[in-house]
Amino acid sequence: MSNWVRAHTNIALIKYWGKADEDLILPMNNSLSLTLDAFYTETSVTFDDALRSDELYLDDRMQDLAALKKVKTVLDLVREKAGITSKAKVMSYNHVPTAAGLASSASGLAALAGAASLAAGLELSSEELSKLARRGSGSASRSIYGGFAEWQKGTSHETSFAVPVDDADWDIGMLFIVVSDNKKDVSSREGMSRTVQTSPFYQGWLDSLDDDLSAMKLAIKEQDIHEVGVIAERNALKMHATTLGADPPFTYWSPDSMKAMEAVRALRDKGYSVHFTMDAGPNVKLICRQTQLEEIRTHLLNDFSESQLISARPGPGLHVVSRPGSQ
Ligand code: ADP
Ligand code: DP6
Ligand code: CO
Repeated sequence: MSNWVRAHTNIALIKYWGKADEDLILPMNNSLSLTLDAFYTETSVTFDDALRSDELYLDDRMQDLAALKKVKTVLDLVREKAGITSKAKVMSYNHVPTAAGLASSASGLAALAGAASLAAGLELSSEELSKLARRGSGSASRSIYGGFAEWQKGTSHETSFAVPVDDADWDIGMLFIVVSDNKKDVSSREGMSRTVQTSPFYQGWLDSLDDDLSAMKLAIKEQDIHEVGVIAERNALKMHATTLGADPPFTYWSPDSMKAMEAVRALRDKGYSVHFTMDAGPNVKLICRQTQLEEIRTHLLNDFSESQLISARPGPGLHVVSRPGSQ
């Protein structure tokens, strides 16, 4: 039997930005995302009495203790649940650039939650898997599900998990403009923590979220691509505004991010329903009709190269695969 588990990345349309509890990873607000087919992680876990410490190999390279930290949190919870004391060897392959604002921690830690619980013989519900993944990285709580998922913030470990919202089996897609796949200078974890602690704009962000979230849910229900885009774009811009007020201030935007945003506005002037969102990194994600992905991509080839433009459709939830790289 295979012990390889695949999880796809998700991109938030209503962002998670800030923790109410940094140890338990309880967020300040609910967030809502779309899981995508184009980017994913595959992971296998082996518990082995012969190991003296946990080991993480990412893309065949052994990772240091800093990288192991999130992984160890998830492994410890699984060991506790299953009554296992042995250390684990974790093998993982990212089909997504790592730490570049393309949500590798979401697919990476969700795949780990699935693979570790499988190796331990635990049969967990989606809700339990979501909680487990959350403890590794907040956004990973949502990658348990395909389509749209909402991470309900909760007030404790037991009450903070994601739920499916809509299977996204309609005309929606995302186009990624990859302006850089370098590792970011400020991790998501550090960036949100600094913002919560020091940015005077943070309260304004929080105050506007209920309206954005309820409007987004309605737009998804009505399969209204324009409204989904409008709300996602304004939500992302508000999130990014909070970082400029932090101390020390920072931004994830680069000149190429601005160029991508301008290209989106130009496409709107041509009559396309297309909007953007951005995460903790300089890359820009376009929200548009799935049926117009290729047409929009062709326009963008005037400003960006083939390899910078990646089309994505709604993707599946966590699942076991026969071997890494298989269909
Ligand atoms: P991203 O935008 O890629 O999610 P983050 O700063 O949130 O960036 O998280 C990146 C970190 O997530 C990496 O430095 C690493 O610690 C962890 N990570 C990414 N992929 C994996 C994986 N496949 N397995 C274990 N940990 C991973
Ligand atoms: C901007 O889930 O990567 O992408 O919980 O500290 O691991 P940790 O952070 P992470 O934060 C993601 C932030 C975001 C918005 C989002 O995905 O909702
Ligand atoms: Co992340």
